[in-house]
Amino acid sequence: MAESTTTAHPAQSPHPLQDRVAIVTGASRGIGRAIALHLASLGAKVLINYTSNRALADEVAAHINSTSTGSTPRAVTFRANISDAAQVKSLFDAAEAAFNSPIQILVNSAGVLDSKYPTLADTTDEDFDTTFNVNCRGAFFCCREAANRIKRGGGGRIICMTTSVVGSLKPGYSAYTASKAAVEAMVKTLAKELKGTGITANSVAPGAVATEMFFAGKTEEMVNRAVEECPLGRLGETEDVAPVVGFLASDAGQWVNGQVIRVNGGGYV
Ligand SMILES: NC(=O)c1ccc[n+]([C@@H]2O[C@H](COP(=O)([O-])OP(=O)(O)OC[C@H]3O[C@@H](n4cnc5c(N)ncnc54)[C@H](OP(=O)(O)O)[C@@H]3O)[C@@H](O)[C@H]2O)c1
Repeated sequence: MAESTTTAHPAQSPHPLQDRVAIVTGASRGIGRAIALHLASLGAKVLINYTSNRALADEVAAHINSTSTGSTPRAVTFRANISDAAQVKSLFDAAEAAFNSPIQILVNSAGVLDSKYPTLADTTDEDFDTTFNVNCRGAFFCCREAANRIKRGGGGRIICMTTSVVGSLKPGYSAYTASKAAVEAMVKTLAKELKGTGITANSVAPGAVATEMFFAGKTEEMVNRAVEECPLGRLGETEDVAPVVGFLASDAGQWVNGQVIRVNGGGYV
């Protein structure tokens, strides 16, 4: 049968996420910030989550609201430590109340990395717990809340930021890698458990992306090595990752489910 040339595919709309409500955790800085700005540019209403940098989160929201034409804000901020279940519940409550709507999209970008890059032998109990509390427990709380509360019937999206290091298994990242590998396993399982809801669940696994997290504690040599390892010969930018999340969040991305999408320019694999 010939393809219709008259029906506009949702992917062709300039605002494929028009008025969908999204929560982006860790959106005050880095990759989460770029994702929040991108989802808003696609028409979404966005809750900007942060844990300490209120001023930066406010700037992201102000930027989105300055470009919107309506009288009600399209972006709000909310402080919540994602490693605390009660705070994650409050985060979802805040998004529903701010936009008077159920949530359709969760992007969990909040994360931490031990900038000492310890070998497993040198990883302290405290550093292991900090890493797992935010990256794994935090992702679990966000996914659990999302699984129970995201709108059924289509357009529901759960997207967790993991890391390409789960593939490359670099020395110095054992707790971090393990915390993200656990998330990838949870998200794949969750995608199956959400059968019948129309909600998809995926992980997006960046390689080296030029953010505070990436540069923290790295020598010039370590940074240069990341560039050399990448076939495209540079570090990733936050804007390299955000459109992939935007695609997964849109109706055009509905057939991608239970996957880990590595976004790394061919490096860090
Ligand atoms: N950059 C990379 O090379 C890279 C590579 C692969 C994967 N990733 C992953 O991508 C995600 C974003 O990384 P990034 O480079 O953008 O990091 P980043 O620049 O360090 O930003 C981290 C963000 O997470 C927030 N955050 C940290 N702990 C939190 C908590 N307990 N509760 C709520 N928010 C919290 C921070 O909020 P405040 O500003 O309030 O502190 C900030 O918004 C992370 O999950 C990271 O593991 C990054």
